[in-house]
Amino acid sequence: MRTIAELRASVGAWRAAGETIGLVPTMGALHQGHLALVRASKAQCARTVATIFVNPTQFGPNEDFASYPRDPTRDIGLLETNGADLLYMPDVATMYPHGFATTVSVAQLTETLCGPHRPGHFAGVTTVVAKLLNQAGADDAFFGEKDFQQLAIIRRMVADLDLPVRIVGVPTVREPDGLALSSRNAYLTPEQRRVAPTLHRTIAAIANAPSKSAADQAKDRLIHAGFTKVDYVTIADAETLHSVTDFARPARVFAAAWLGRTRLIDNVPVGKS
Ligand code: PAJ
Repeated sequence: MRTIAELRASVGAWRAAGETIGLVPTMGALHQGHLALVRASKAQCARTVATIFVNPTQFGPNEDFASYPRDPTRDIGLLETNGADLLYMPDVATMYPHGFATTVSVAQLTETLCGPHRPGHFAGVTTVVAKLLNQAGADDAFFGEKDFQQLAIIRRMVADLDLPVRIVGVPTVREPDGLALSSRNAYLTPEQRRVAPTLHRTIAAIANAPSKSAADQAKDRLIHAGFTKVDYVTIADAETLHSVTDFARPARVFAAAWLGRTRLIDNVPVGKS
């Protein structure tokens, strides 16, 4: 479906029949990480609505909006075989009509980790996710722990704005060598793909024996392994995302690093990997 009216009519009919609705927002180029969200929704909700929208407002001026992988035919096939009930694929004019002037932005949680490296990114995410949640009117909405900061920010927005939806986090799906699945992995050259799993291996080692010095040394280790640049490797509180040096509360190791022009992010819980 392409329009808000069509989406609301279908969801409204399901709701009138007493069915629960799960929402799985994506930007397409679907992989097993996205499909894990579809499966989680199907396990909890009678109906599953997937969305595909490459959201221009969450890409910076020098980021990959134009080249972001798009393959709707393949995506539709994957959603069909994995049992999604409806695909909502609005165009830019539907999401951002002429005169659009509102931004939803969350403070604090957006000011750490990826926030300073991607100005405006999270405001683009929260604005589009607020719209998708309002358009669909789902009971539950599913987001991956792969983008843990995004998940935390969306939880905050939903709580702060009293949006009537439950946010469900789904664990990260990985390649056998540990690399977190991502649509952007398609950009990697064979040599970069060989180096990429070092990111997970490095943060998993820190999670096993957490210390600030281990996190600091990890940057050098990543550069040595072949990463071009490291934005951060940090141990942070799983709720506030503030850096921590003691581990009384649940914490995670977060990292973002570049392989050429491709930026990879990953995170794992402290003490559990
Ligand atoms: P996208 O990168 O397409 O991801 C869509 C959803 O899939 C997000 O909730 C993301 O965390 C989840 N996901 C991606 N890779 C995953 C993996 N390896 N394991 C588990 N889940 C994974 O994130 C976005 O799109 C956008 O910012 C969006 C929320 C759709 C707003 O535009």
